[in-house]
Amino acid sequence: MLSLMRTSGICRSMILIALVLVCGRAAHANSFGVTSLLFRSGGCNECHAGGQTPTVQLTGPTMVTAGATNEYTLQISAVGSQNKGGLNVSTTAGVLAVGGADAVNTQAVTGAAGRKEITHTAPKAAVDGVVTFTFLWTAPTPFSSATLTAWGNAVNGDAFNSGDRAASTTLTITADVSVATPTPTPTMIPTPTATATLGAPACVGDCNGDGTVTINEIITGVNIALDVSPMSACPPFDKNDDGTVTIDELLAAVNAAVGSCPQ
Ligand code: HEC
Repeated sequence: MLSLMRTSGICRSMILIALVLVCGRAAHANSFGVTSLLFRSGGCNECHAGGQTPTVQLTGPTMVTAGATNEYTLQISAVGSQNKGGLNVSTTAGVLAVGGADAVNTQAVTGAAGRKEITHTAPKAAVDGVVTFTFLWTAPTPFSSATLTAWGNAVNGDAFNSGDRAASTTLTITADVSVATPTPTPTMIPTPTATATLGAPACVGDCNGDGTVTINEIITGVNIALDVSPMSACPPFDKNDDGTVTIDELLAAVNAAVGSCPQ
C-alpha cells in the first residue's frame, strides 16, 4: 500500500517534469517566432548551427514619403534539406506590421525598444526553392531615413536548432524628397477696385445730395427758374453753371426723379 502510493507519487512527479519540459520549450517557442531580444549580433546563428548558410534578400521601396505604408519582401533560399524558413525583421524607426501578398505564417511581436518586429508563427515551406515572407512598413512623420534588419533562417523542420543556418541583410529607406510636401502656391488675393464715391457727377436737382430727386426739389428748381427762389436755394440744378435753371435742367431733374440718379 505504502510502496504503491510512493510509486504513484513518483509517477506524478515524472508527469510534472514532462509537463515543465514541454511547456518550457513552448515558452521558448522559437519554432513559433523570435524577437530580437533573444539574440545579439550573431542573430539566429547564436543558437542554430549545422546547416548551410542561405542567401537572404530584402526588397521593397527604398525611397518613400513620410507616413507612407509600403510592402517589403524577405526571401530565404532553401539549401538542401533546409527547405523551411523563419525570420525576424526589426526597424530603427517607423512601424512594422503584418501584411502583403505572402504574409502567411507571420506575426508582429514586440521587440527591442518596444517596437513591433515581424517573425514567423511556424516554419514556412519553400516554394520553388525560396521561402518568401512579406510584411508592411510605415515611415514615420517627419522622416529622413530608417534601416530594416532582417534575419532569415533556413531550417530543416526537425523542431530542433540543429541542421539550420541563418543569414542577415539590411535595407536602408530614405525620404523621397522629389515628392516632398508641395509648397503651397501663394494665392492671388484680388485687390478690391476702389469704388469712386467722390467726384461722381452730381445729380441735377438733387438739392440735399441724398442721391434722389424729390418732387419738393423739382418745385425748388421751378421756383429758381421762375426767379421766385435764388440759385443758392439749390445749386445742383445749375448743370451748365449759368446762374439759373433752364427748362432742360428741369427736365433732367424730372428724369432723375423718375429714373436713376445721377443722370
Ligand atoms: C537563444 C537561442 C535561439 C535563437 C537566438 C534563435 N533560435 Fe530558433 N530555435 C531555438 C531552439 C532551441 C529551437 C528548437 C526548439 C523550438 O522549436 O523552440 C529553435 C527552432 C527554430 C525553428 C524551427 C526549426 C526546425 O528545424 O524546425 C525556427 C524556424 C527558428 N528557430 C527560427 C529562428 C530564427 C528565424 C531565429 C533568428 C531570428 C532564431 N530561431 C533564433 C533557439 C534559438
